Amino acid sequence: MTGPRAVLVGPMGAGKTTVAEVLGERWGVEVRDTDADIVAAEGRPVQDIFVDDGEAHFRELEVDAVARALAEHDGVLALGGGAVLDARTRERLAGHRVVFLDVGLSEAVKRVGLGAGRPLLLGNVRARVKALLDERTPVYESVATIRVETDGRTPQDIAAEIMEAL
Ligand code: S3P
Repeated sequence: MTGPRAVLVGPMGAGKTTVAEVLGERWGVEVRDTDADIVAAEGRPVQDIFVDDGEAHFRELEVDAVARALAEHDGVLALGGGAVLDARTRERLAGHRVVFLDVGLSEAVKRVGLGAGRPLLLGNVRARVKALLDERTPVYESVATIRVETDGRTPQDIAAEIMEAL
């Protein structure tokens, strides 16, 4: 199938954006990110779209952004962490080279970076990240061609494993 060389999926803090950059450099191809596409088209940050128009509106923009990127882009594509929750997106991913960047709870919380030095907030971030990981891991597994562990590994090491597997 034509389309992206690799599509990276996984939770916030899995390193999708960073690993996509490394793969893009190594393969000598362009990197595209659906969050960045949406922000560019809307002229406002993701957080503002959530706050002003609600998550459901963001998800509709995301479904279209993913569909466009899958059709247009032949480099590395990173999806937002929640993109695979939409059935239309999951169907469109079928047949593509989809990489699930897996991350453990503590590592994800550390990488997301919120709540450092604020135990109360950190507790909430951890609970929220846990809920998202529990809910979404089976969905990432269901769309993935391969699953790559990211805990305690450098983006370079992760990219090397992906390049070997795809
Ligand atoms: C989201 C992940 C974000 C962004 C939005 C929602 C999610 O992308 O799309 O804040 O639902 O997991 P990253 O995974 O790139 O942080």
